[in-house]
Amino acid sequence: MTKYDVAIIGSGPGGYVAAIRCAQLGMKTAIIEKYSTLGGTCLNVGCIPSKALLDSSEHFHTADKKFKEHGIDIEAPKVNFEQMISRKAGVVEQTTKGIQFLMDKNKIDVYEGLGSFEGEHILRIKGEEEQKIEAKNIIIATGSKPIELPFAKFDKERIISSTEALELKEVPKHLIVIGGGVIGLELGSVYARLGAEVTVLEYLDQIIPSFDAAMGKELMKSMKKLGVKFNLSHKVTSVTREGNEVTVKAENKKGEEVSFEGDYCLVSVGRKPYTEGLNVEAAGVQLNEKKQVEVNAHLQTSKAHIYAIGDVVRGAMLAHKAEDEGTLVAELLAGQKPHIDYNLIPNVVYTWPEVASVGKTEEQLKEEKVAYKSGQFPMRALGRARASMDIEGVIKVLADEKTDEILGVHMIGARAADMIAEAVVAMEFRASAEDIARISHAHPTYTEAVREAAMAATENRPIHI
Ligand code: FAD
Ligand code: NAI
Repeated sequence: MTKYDVAIIGSGPGGYVAAIRCAQLGMKTAIIEKYSTLGGTCLNVGCIPSKALLDSSEHFHTADKKFKEHGIDIEAPKVNFEQMISRKAGVVEQTTKGIQFLMDKNKIDVYEGLGSFEGEHILRIKGEEEQKIEAKNIIIATGSKPIELPFAKFDKERIISSTEALELKEVPKHLIVIGGGVIGLELGSVYARLGAEVTVLEYLDQIIPSFDAAMGKELMKSMKKLGVKFNLSHKVTSVTREGNEVTVKAENKKGEEVSFEGDYCLVSVGRKPYTEGLNVEAAGVQLNEKKQVEVNAHLQTSKAHIYAIGDVVRGAMLAHKAEDEGTLVAELLAGQKPHIDYNLIPNVVYTWPEVASVGKTEEQLKEEKVAYKSGQFPMRALGRARASMDIEGVIKVLADEKTDEILGVHMIGARAADMIAEAVVAMEFRASAEDIARISHAHPTYTEAVREAAMAATENRPIHI
């Protein structure tokens, strides 16, 4: 039986990053993946394919709706959906092969097959043949799966999860989306831009509920312009399919039953930790009531040499959070003293305009009774935004009332996904709003809006409004 310093189960952004960092730190490392391609949810059916389709559909939408005003006359563009899906598949293939290359480069042994515990240090791998390996330390990085509603079982054809929504053979005529969270709005945007009617049913009275409430309101305004219809405070009660038609029934705020008919229904109501087939009991590893692998602050499970990271443990289900945890465990194993500040993990929605956020929301600060000041700057007041016709959105900087330390930054606007990095760096170094206000920002850029919002927060002295 081959012996390893560390064996990792799952090759998503948590697992593969942990493997590379362990190998870099001199550990003999194995990674086990049940699918034939590496990269997990993120690279195969998550972050990367969704962004490929978001980019393609946004190009189409720009050509169709904005070229004319820019002074570019073209014949009405048409969607070649087969090519769009095939380009996306190419991007995924290239990216997952890149992970295989990194495994080889770092001399990490890759096992294809379902990994499960035989004991505290022994893992069984059920692939084409059955193998066993022994490891001093083990990292569980098995990720998550879509939540299925009891009355809306995925048939994977018309009642679908994000995985099928990334692989459709046609643009839906009417896509009904259950859940106004990140997946529903990103994939809803893709199909709305490509010409589908899109109707979102959300249980709560706001969309993207984990973000600062102002962001959801702004995003809803933008997406309504795209034609997306929103039904908030709707409790879905049934989903039925007849042939190619799907009927979704829900109870509205007044308690009345309302009915929606479409040809596809995307169920995007969250994801759940994935531990099926792992046989954690054999190692004495405990799950909590949410079926997450229970971990302490060092990401150790109930067995000190078995760690768990990423979507399968508590916290945000984000690729970069999983990556950071993978790095943290590798460095702990090497005797280092790494640290993650979970408050400073940015969160992004890749709609257009994009939404990005870090730190505390206004609602959280109110709840925690923190005295804060808020500065805002609208994108439409920026020269850069007017030049590109991307004038939707706003940036909000929240700072401590007394010390001016930045407590949260929330933005919706063009390139917010990239701009949030400035706020993360600033907060990591515990900058004040005045620090950002005094830093030179290139003109004309979208980042000037971050500076102006910081100016508004620090002394209520933005220059351009
Ligand atoms: P995963 O990526 O889920 O990987 C787990 C791996 O473990 C899988 O490959 C699985 O096959 C394997 N596995 C499970 N059990 C076993 C076993 N017993 N034996 C062997 N292998 C096993 N996050 C972002 O930060 N940005 C985004 O833009 C973004 N977009 C997303 C879009 C969509 C449509 C979806 C669904 C998710 C998106 N996410 C995004 C979330 C992101 O994909 C996850 O947070 C991330 O993949 C979690 O990484 P992980 O390593 O914990 O698990
Ligand atoms: P989500 O948690 O973002 O949103 C789910 C939404 O569904 C919520 O608004 C919730 O109130 C609503 N909901 C729950 N039950 C409902 C019901 N019965 N009827 C109507 N609405 C209901 O989950 P989502 O969109 O499925 O995404 C899962 C996770 O994947 C996200 O939490 C995120 O961490 C990750 N992800 C990240 C992305 C990014 O970083 N850009 C992109 C896509 C996914």
